[in-house]
Order: sequence, then C-alpha cells, then structure tokens
Amino acid sequence: MSILIINIKELIQVRDHNVTIVKGEDMKILPTIKNAYLIIEHDTIVEYGSMSDYIDYEVDEVIDAKGKMVLPAWCDSHTHIVYAGDRSQEFVDRINGLSYEEIAQRGGGILNSAEVLQNTSEEDLYQQSLKRLNRVMKLGTGAIEIKSGYGLTVDAELKMLRVIKRLKKESLALIKTTLLAAHAVPKEFKDHKEKFVDRVISEMIPQVGQAKLADYIDVFCEKGYFDLEDTERILQAGAAYGLIPKIHVNQFNAFGGVALAVKYKALSVDHLEEMRPEDIDALKDSNTMPVALPSCSYFISIPYTPARQIIDAGLPLAIASDYNPGTTPSGNMNFVVSTACIKLRMTPEEAINAATINGAYAMGISNQYGSICRGKKANLIITKEIESYNNLPYAFGDNLIDTVILSGKILD
Ligand code: NIG
Ligand code: FE
Repeated sequence: MSILIINIKELIQVRDHNVTIVKGEDMKILPTIKNAYLIIEHDTIVEYGSMSDYIDYEVDEVIDAKGKMVLPAWCDSHTHIVYAGDRSQEFVDRINGLSYEEIAQRGGGILNSAEVLQNTSEEDLYQQSLKRLNRVMKLGTGAIEIKSGYGLTVDAELKMLRVIKRLKKESLALIKTTLLAAHAVPKEFKDHKEKFVDRVISEMIPQVGQAKLADYIDVFCEKGYFDLEDTERILQAGAAYGLIPKIHVNQFNAFGGVALAVKYKALSVDHLEEMRPEDIDALKDSNTMPVALPSCSYFISIPYTPARQIIDAGLPLAIASDYNPGTTPSGNMNFVVSTACIKLRMTPEEAINAATINGAYAMGISNQYGSICRGKKANLIITKEIESYNNLPYAFGDNLIDTVILSGKILD
C-alpha cells in the first residue's frame, strides 16, 4: 500500500537529518516546507518535498490536502490508560473542598482504582482500555507509553501488563510499557511500607522482568508514597532486568528525586510541578528528558511545571497527557499542546516539538517517530483547513484534526 499526499499547505516538523531530541533555544524552531507533498510506502515515509519538485509517482491512493497541514502524530510519553471504572465521585468531592491528598488518605485515589481493577476481568479491562486508546488515536496520538500501577498485587499487575501487551499487538499505535509497581502503598501494608517494597523487589520486578512484560520502570516518588530510599532500591532492582527508569517526581514535593533519577540514568522525569534550582541543575549534562503534564495541573488545580525555566536553562522538554482516572481523565494531546502554550507559556513551536520529537525521545523511539524524515514511520496527522499551525493551540478545545495515518494506514 502506498499513499501520496499532495498540495500540503505546510508540512510541519521536517527534519532531513534524523534529529532525536531538541533542546533549549532550538525548541523555538519548527522546520516546515510550504506547499509540499509526501509519499508513504507500507508503514514508512519514503519521500517528501516541495510541490514544485514533485515528479510523477505511481501510488495506490492520493490524498489532496489543499489548505491543510501535515505533522507527525503526537507522541504521548506518559499515560495510565489501562484502568477500570472511573473516579468521577472524587472529582465532585474535590469541587466540594477535599484535596487530592485528603481523598487518598481516606482510601480513595489510587487505592480506589486498584480495588476496582482487581475485581475487573482481564477481558473487560482490555475492552475498557481499548476504547480509550482508539479515542486518543482519533485525536492524533500515534505513539503512547502505558503504565501499570493500578494492580498493587502481583496478579493484578500482571493482568494489567498482559492487557497492555494485547493492545500493543492489536493496535496501529506504537506502545511502550512501563512497570509502575510502586504506585501506592496497599492498605494491607499501611504500616509496613518496607515489606511492600520488598515484595515489589523480590516478586513483581523479577516476574515482569523474566516475562519481558515491560520496557521501563516507574516509581511514584512522593511524600506519603515512596521516598528516595524506596525509589533507589526499586530502580536498582529494575536495572538488573534492564528496566530503564521513567519516574514520577516533584508532583507535590521536591526532595531530590530528580537527582536520584539522573543518577540511575532515567530516560525521563515526569510531572515536575515543584522545581528547585538544584533540580534544574541536576538535569544539565544528563540524557534525562523532563516531561510536563499540563492537563494534570489543570484538572487538580496544582501549579504548572515551570517550562520557561527549564527551556531557558537550555534543557529539552516533552509534554504528555498523564491520562488516568484520578488526576487527568483525558488523553487529548491537542488540549495538552494548547495548555502548554496558554499556561506554561511555551510557544507553539516549542509545544509541538515537545509533543512530537521530544515525546518520542521520552519513550526511547525518537529514531523512528516524532518527525518527518525519510525512513521514519508514517504516523501522521492531517489537519482540517487552517490558517497557520498556531491555530492548533489557539483553538483550544476544538478538534482541528481531519485524518490520522498510523503505520501507513488511514484510520476510519
Ligand atoms: O501521574 N501521581 C501519580 N500517578 C498519577 C495519578 C494516579 C491516580 O490518581 O490515579 C499521576 O498523576
Ligand atoms: Fe502519571
């Protein structure tokens, strides 16, 4: 199957050389070709350029994109889309004055989701999750990281990971899997957190590692959840199975998780709503991608990640959805891009770089995804007719996506 897209008003995020990360000042640059064409063969971008250089090409299907823009599909590097039920009651409780922490202390929050998931069959969990995945794909997400973490028992974590494996096999989106065994301390271990961490280390990580059910390892490194010592033990145990860290840090409190993650060569550090100067310093000269999750800040009314400080320090930044039932019941990356511009004061160029090439980096796939480059995967968004790419963040809440192509196939 080959597809030719002609008359593209603007082809966005074109990188002739296979750039895999964009940092600091360079994030302000978004290379484009106006009045362009692009050719896909099977699942790969094979050629593109200016319409004036186009030479007739034999293809199976032609798409006329007059007035429309084409860009790489979004790369959402942080989600928890495999979950059961929802937490809409906690949403109402928060409106009525309870905080996220207070709800968690009452046994709500992650423990609430874990209980529902433990009582949901694997098939039902798969079907609920598949619906969400298909919805975000229609919204332009072409590569996505999915975490476990609502199991909290060996069996339930394995169930989640098998569901992710099945999604991986059956979906056109590229999926990366993260083991988030230490997401909350289960009720039974309330006063014996170390025993739970022991179980994570002696049972969960070895079983998941041996079955090769995860690519990465995560920890919710936060007051009331897992401290630096727990985090370090878990990252060491993961390393024995080749599990690279991508961790939740600095969501509510900053106490050294960023430096610890860097020490263990984390691929990404995610959340970062609370950042101290030493956290920014720890990221300099590292290969760790900071990841902001603006929809989470929006939904639970916590500070936004200081993107300007991060980028202005010369660092890269990715943005992701954090799609989960508690803090972000939305996986709409278009809203994430808008919110990054509106609330994190990122320019449209910075936000699009953060949601494509840098998002791909934060999943370890930026050599294949996240930019328009010959030989890269054909994961593309074709927009509706729009004036400029600024309209993508500007028209917040609107859906400006016309067509999504994943692995060279047009989604219907
Ligand atoms: O990224 N912070 C930890 N984990 C999720 C929320 C989990 C939940 O509330 O269910 C997050 O925000
Ligand atoms: Fe998260």
